[in-house]
Amino acid sequence: MKNIVILISGGGSNMEAIVRAAGRDRWAERFGARIAAVVSNKAEAGGLAIARAQGIDTAVVPHKDFATREDFDEALAKVVDGYAPALVVLAGFMRILTPGFVNSYAGRLVNIHPSLLPAFPGLNTHQRAIDAGCKVAGVTVHQVTTELDHGPILAQAAVPVLPDDTADTLAARVLSQEHLLYPRAIAQWLSDT
Ligand code: GRF
Repeated sequence: MKNIVILISGGGSNMEAIVRAAGRDRWAERFGARIAAVVSNKAEAGGLAIARAQGIDTAVVPHKDFATREDFDEALAKVVDGYAPALVVLAGFMRILTPGFVNSYAGRLVNIHPSLLPAFPGLNTHQRAIDAGCKVAGVTVHQVTTELDHGPILAQAAVPVLPDDTADTLAARVLSQEHLLYPRAIAQWLSDT
């Protein structure tokens, strides 16, 4: 079995979309893959309950318990490595990972970022796209490298920016595309490897 470990920090709607697609599209039969665990750096992440309700292992590694990023990443890697993952999926995981962590999962670590990279890496992507007068915005799934929100692009989807958009309305339009794109990109990765 190819184990997939999903890292979250919040609501986990992307994680939920991936879990749903894995069942609906029979990833176990087609790719020999399963969602082995969902790990959060926040105990209050809403996605944990969703994962538990699906019978998926969950774990919390609270970043606040660690003095340095290196110490946190080491503890996180210990939990993740317990599942011998073929793929580690960042799904709204809001921590910057150390080069040590990133390098140890080279080629099997992916992220979703709510902009059309290389435009708008970092935070507040939707407001920044509106402020820049963009007519399209979107989402990118990419391999994670040591540079934040860079790395080879695996898939993108675009949405229009409408004249009355606020950051919230644009975020909602982008998020609905995230839920389609991320499972599709992961299925593609699984079928290619
Ligand atoms: C998504 O927009 C993701 O791209 C971003 O944070 C949001 C997470 O949403 N970086 P969820 O936790 O998957 O619901």
